[in-house]
Amino acid sequence: MTATLRVLRADITSLPVDAIVNAARHSLLGGGGVDGAIHRAAGPELLARCRALNGCATGEAKITPGFHLPARHVIHTVGPVWRGGRSGEPALLASCYRRALEVAAQAGVESIAFPCISTGAYGYPPEQAAPLAVRTVRETLARLPNFREVVFCCFSEEERARYEKLIA
Ligand code: AR6
Repeated sequence: MTATLRVLRADITSLPVDAIVNAARHSLLGGGGVDGAIHRAAGPELLARCRALNGCATGEAKITPGFHLPARHVIHTVGPVWRGGRSGEPALLASCYRRALEVAAQAGVESIAFPCISTGAYGYPPEQAAPLAVRTVRETLARLPNFREVVFCCFSEEERARYEKLIA
């Protein structure tokens, strides 16, 4: 199967995909941005399940059910905080996309949506994050044949246009 890459401007909590990815924090106990939106939409069961996971390292990924979300699973990953770009941020951000896809593949996920990890509160420059995200997803999909669709779920029109150019 060859996965289709798609770009959408949407609230990721509305997407009826097998899994959505959360840009979480180490504790996995919720926060603002996309993390807050996912916890609100999934309901309190998600926080209860996350408590049992004992956190997540930067660049790693852990899976939970989606509870009240249309998505069956949530893959929680922790992006790097931007510290100028020489503290391993690119490798850690690439690891988020790679590990999220690997964890999803193990759960039988065929369609998955990513937010623009680290580009909000964590300050990663979006124009550097987007090409890294697309390249890493393409490379990882080449060895994970189970995926049907990977969505880059953008929150702004600017971000949507940036991703459209990259996957064209
Ligand atoms: N759907 C899709 N994208 C969204 C949504 C949404 N509902 N809401 C925001 N975005 P951020 P980070 C976009 O800050 O930079 C949290 O407090 C947003 O416009 O959510 O990885 C966590 O608990 C931006 O493009 O995540 C962590 O502490 C992108 O999602 C910290 O923030 C990521 O912005 C993680 O920071």
